[in-house]
Amino acid sequence: MSIAPIGEPRQKITVASLREKKLQHQPITCLTAYDYATARLVDDAAIDIVLVGDSLAQTMLGYENTLSVTVDEMLHHVRAVHRGMKHALLIADMPYGSYHAGADDAVKNATRFVKEGGAEAVKVEGGEKRADLIRRIIDAEIPVAGHIGLTPQSVNVMSGYKVQGKDLGGIEQLMRDAVALDRAGVACIVLEGIPREVAAMITAEVGAPTIGIGAGPECDGQVLVFHDLVNLTFAPPAKFVRRYGDAAALISNAVRAFRADVKSLQYPSDGESYHLPKDTKAGLDTVLERKRAMRR
Ligand code: KIV
Repeated sequence: MSIAPIGEPRQKITVASLREKKLQHQPITCLTAYDYATARLVDDAAIDIVLVGDSLAQTMLGYENTLSVTVDEMLHHVRAVHRGMKHALLIADMPYGSYHAGADDAVKNATRFVKEGGAEAVKVEGGEKRADLIRRIIDAEIPVAGHIGLTPQSVNVMSGYKVQGKDLGGIEQLMRDAVALDRAGVACIVLEGIPREVAAMITAEVGAPTIGIGAGPECDGQVLVFHDLVNLTFAPPAKFVRRYGDAAALISNAVRAFRADVKSLQYPSDGESYHLPKDTKAGLDTVLERKRAMRR
């Protein structure tokens, strides 16, 4: 396995390089990012794929679920992320409603993410039933990431966020979904919220790289929501989340320290202030002295 150390010249990640990584058994890394600063940090850390997920509806915009976010709202974030990226592959999530009315609509919206947002691929939730629509988007020269299993845009149909593929019928459906997406030519398949045994079977069956989230370690890669990774979600984490940092504590402590310093006149100090040039200061002192003398 070859891992390019951070700091060494890196190659641009493409759809082809994802397939290559699968063939070479090199784990693929993916994180969500929704703004310029995060995109820079994630890209600088040599993460392979940056996903502007519709999870931004909750993490960035405070919506209850992902259903409300619009193409225009998504695009605002995709553009910002694009400006912060150099090497990673940029995937934009197609939000709920942006591909459900038909393939023409889907192609039009996917094209906006490429032309206006700088996305290199789009992600569409759903398996077998989306295969034809995904072919149409690929025909328009736009690579597509599939997404099956626990698909958050189906929350109302699934009656909640539930692990999928737990019985034989569910496993059969997931296999059919994965194979249909693979045959449609997807760039990769996100496997969300499914038993690791099922994810392992799918990963062995399809040519497209699988990227797991709550799908166990046998996937070709792993994705996490950035806000889960650094504890910015204000909610207990799901079972599969590993917290790698505590940005909530870091930010909260910094904000509280700033408040305390302002209240106690400790901020800003003289060293944190701008000063007049010497001759201007001397001139000003003279003027002020004259004014004082006239008042006497
Ligand atoms: O919207 C999102 O962040 C996603 C990931 C969880 C895969 O779809």
